[in-house]
Amino acid sequence: MKERIIVALDTDSPDSALSVVKALAGVVGMFKVGMELFPRGGPDLVRKIRDEGADVFLDLKFHDIPNTVAGAVRSAAALGVRFTTVHASGGRQMLASAAEAAFGTGTTILAVTVLTSLDGSDLSEIGVPSSPADMVLRLAGMAMREGIGGYVCSAREVSAVRELVGNSAVLVTPGVRLQDDAALDQKRVVTPFDAMRNGADYLVVGRPITKAADPVAAASRFAAEMQRGREAGSREA
Ligand code: C5P
Repeated sequence: MKERIIVALDTDSPDSALSVVKALAGVVGMFKVGMELFPRGGPDLVRKIRDEGADVFLDLKFHDIPNTVAGAVRSAAALGVRFTTVHASGGRQMLASAAEAAFGTGTTILAVTVLTSLDGSDLSEIGVPSSPADMVLRLAGMAMREGIGGYVCSAREVSAVRELVGNSAVLVTPGVRLQDDAALDQKRVVTPFDAMRNGADYLVVGRPITKAADPVAAASRFAAEMQRGREAGSREA
């Protein structure tokens, strides 16, 4: 299960990101490099993480015209990243172009549906009449039809998305906390047990591991709960 943990490197310092990687490579499977870290660390940091034997999730949430997003996906794939993200709201053609650009590479595109920072009134303000839950399923369905293989889902939506997209899709869930962890600024947290039981494939975990007194032990506790959740989920299926 440890290889199903993605540690979020939420820092602006490539050096401190690399020390987290060195402490945890071999313990967890992947590291998430996002838009705070990538402009500073660049492709060089991605290569250094891969040199430690870990996979990289390049979370830059592409959202542009189809041609530009296809190019961005090709550039991400050329770095050898395992996952990269696009906003599903970029539309059908953009999703199709992204899927085509990733085809045959080792990179899986994850579609981001509705940001969890947006609620119903935010959607209505930008002219979207649906509830966030309906919009998530609408966008996930569209991404699936255009050949996108993965989804970032909040723990709240993981079971509904799993039901829609089927077992072969990859579902990645952030916002997980062990029972005794502080929620920090996350509002709707679930435990790794519930996230895996509800159908997640990978969990994105930041501070509960990176800020733990013993990050390796914290990762092991996550993995043990994930294993129990996965088993409970298969029993219920
Ligand atoms: O430290 P923590 O475990 O809260 O970090 C979670 C990571 O997942 C962060 O990189 C955060 O940006 C990301 N994320 C999230 N909630 C979402 C989407 C992404 O926490 N809905």
